[in-house]
Amino acid sequence: MDELFKTVPETPERVTAELQGTIPDWVNGTLLRNAPAKYEFGKHSYKHWFDGLSLLHAFIIEKGEVSYHSKYLETKSFKKGSEQKRTVYAEFGTAEVPDPCKNIFARFFSYFFPPERTDNTAVNFVTMKGKIFANSDSPVFNEIDPETFQLLDVANAKTDMKSARVVYACAHPHEEFDGSVYHVMTSIGRQARYNFVHVPPAKRANHIKTETPLEGAKIVASVKAHKMYSTYYHSFGITPKYFIFVENPFTVNGYEVLRMKIDQRSFHDCMHWDSKEPSRFYLVERECGECVATYEAQSFFSFHHVNAYEEINGVVVVDLCCYPDASVIDMYYLHHLRNSKIDKVAENFADPEVRRYRLPIPGKDVPRTNSPRLQYEILGGDVELPRINYRFNGQEYRYIYGTGPYEHGHFLDQLVKLDTVSKEKKTWYESECFPSEPVFIERPGAKDEDDGVIVSGVVGTGGRKSFLLVLDAASFTELARAIIPSRLPQSLHGNFMPDLSYKLQAFYADKREPKQMEDAQ
Ligand SMILES: [Fe+2]
Repeated sequence: MDELFKTVPETPERVTAELQGTIPDWVNGTLLRNAPAKYEFGKHSYKHWFDGLSLLHAFIIEKGEVSYHSKYLETKSFKKGSEQKRTVYAEFGTAEVPDPCKNIFARFFSYFFPPERTDNTAVNFVTMKGKIFANSDSPVFNEIDPETFQLLDVANAKTDMKSARVVYACAHPHEEFDGSVYHVMTSIGRQARYNFVHVPPAKRANHIKTETPLEGAKIVASVKAHKMYSTYYHSFGITPKYFIFVENPFTVNGYEVLRMKIDQRSFHDCMHWDSKEPSRFYLVERECGECVATYEAQSFFSFHHVNAYEEINGVVVVDLCCYPDASVIDMYYLHHLRNSKIDKVAENFADPEVRRYRLPIPGKDVPRTNSPRLQYEILGGDVELPRINYRFNGQEYRYIYGTGPYEHGHFLDQLVKLDTVSKEKKTWYESECFPSEPVFIERPGAKDEDDGVIVSGVVGTGGRKSFLLVLDAASFTELARAIIPSRLPQSLHGNFMPDLSYKLQAFYADKREPKQMEDAQ
């Protein structure tokens, strides 16, 4: 799998794809993707897939035609790494490399200060106040121009919300249709807290230019961690009435994080799995900000919540992609990925499965705590990087789209549609091709949940071409593929933005340098 995890060159000029098949004429817009894609500077290499520096890339679909471009996000991690030819900051799985330019005494004293944090954001995007930010499991939000991929500004919850003492924000906030965004952010103190943060939309359309992204951000609920330190988490659930937070027994040791530089540890080195502890679910009422119930379950690990909703019988349903423990993270170390065969890479790791947990809402007969241990129902196996029709976020829904292994042992190399009612699966697979997270685009005027298309960037290996794949979401059959004459990265997350080139054009044009204006025209 060496080919899939090599540094990918950027494609700064738009290239036109060769189209096979037909993309429905109502599909127009930009599929914006974020990927870890630069894995070394000089002789220094990152160690983990999640460490790679962010390559922003876009598939632009206009009137049935597709074009593509990509550019590295010019963060200080990227710029300093390029200048100094070394991996400057600690990343998820890589320790900080000591600065060879510092003399031995300066280096010795620098060990006693906590490491300056990376500003690499190679995981996802979030729109706040009408602006688009690349983000990751970090309080850093890099504002980008989605057409040129220029880094415009940086928001940092740690400094911009100073009184909240935030040190962490997970990579999957929820965006509401009114422009509000909900994050979960960890704050530190005597005991870590999980804070649910509401970021309001811009007060008026013309305030987009003047309001800072985290302006008006407010902690609307806060839950104390079970122990002193925070768990590692990557997403959370939301319904119209509740937030759902899962605290897995995978703790980030804050003391070790402070000593990372001295001990030459990565963030992952500071995380510890405790198999004796359960996983805990916190049910938090949005209106009053109170944690109304906690539940325990047999310990498990999860990156991704799929969806959550309230049933009329007083139950909150929570669907997640789960593993028995956090060892799956070890699979993503680059030395393992690069040195493994496609069908053997996940051989010694558990496959992801979609579990449904039912949380009884406390009331007359249901206590707030000490409920019986939660059991779960398996909705289906082999689904990761889950997506849904986002109109159904927080609502009762039926279909999950994701990637999964073709067979046990494989890397994520097929696309899956899982029917949560019938438990039937539809799949798309081509040998030695690696599809990205499938993004659902709803047909205008659609009534059925799966009336639309699925788009996914597919990385071809072994001489196979890379392409943007378009599937009919209902039948999960191929409508078109647009062959991209560039190498694609193995990406993590992204979004389809139908009105990018129309609504936002004027706003971003104002921020461009004259030279960039010419280039973009
Ligand atoms: Fe994710």
